[in-house]
Amino acid sequence: MAPIDGIRACVFDAYGTLFDFASAAARCRDIPDEQRAALTTLWRDKQLQYTWLRSLQGRYADFRQVTADALDFTLETLGIASPALHARLMALYETLTPFPEVADTLRSLRAAGFRTAILSNGTPAMLDAAVRAGGLHDLFDAVLSADAVQRFKTHPAVYEYALRQLGLRADQVSFQSSNGWDAYAASAFGMRVVWCNRYGQRREHLPGAPDREVRSLAELPALLAPAPPGAAARARS
Ligand code: LAC
Repeated sequence: MAPIDGIRACVFDAYGTLFDFASAAARCRDIPDEQRAALTTLWRDKQLQYTWLRSLQGRYADFRQVTADALDFTLETLGIASPALHARLMALYETLTPFPEVADTLRSLRAAGFRTAILSNGTPAMLDAAVRAGGLHDLFDAVLSADAVQRFKTHPAVYEYALRQLGLRADQVSFQSSNGWDAYAASAFGMRVVWCNRYGQRREHLPGAPDREVRSLAELPALLAPAPPGAAARARS
């Protein structure tokens, strides 16, 4: 298959795509194995549900708050609620482990001339902490938070915000997410999309159609062809 061409920037979702959200509970060795897996799944599901439910209600709260509320629900459900565990898991969420191929993939994309950015629901402080803890601080041109537009994905305003910040058209951006719903939404918005389907999710029945599907970001550099020089200037004019 021919590479996706005309790309100027590679924009990445954060949680589940660059950073392994399972690594928070995995570092709590005092929680039994079966509860750790349940905690990770329920915490993530509730966190996402709360972003969408608050969006429908027009009651935005930032991603840190939503993540904390989802964690409360999860710890109560599992019968292990305690302020100390809550605080520990929230702190661990700020230092999630990057997936093993992330740093090398970013380096190789940048060497090939692509700009690199994050576009995430995470607050600027959460993203900054995760990027620094993961040793990725030199590998992004921009770390963009949905908080700037007070909306969560899949609101088009979030994807639009990335284009404004990068000064690019949607078809000059390759967007990578491990979340099917995010990948489909970015595609419906007009970005080129590589769905990093780490978790082997089924295809969504939603607007959009990701251009490519991979299991690991290591496959990404071979799928993209940079835009010819001068294309960025033309896009901005
Ligand atoms: C993000 C979550 C949704 O980083 O994965 O935006």
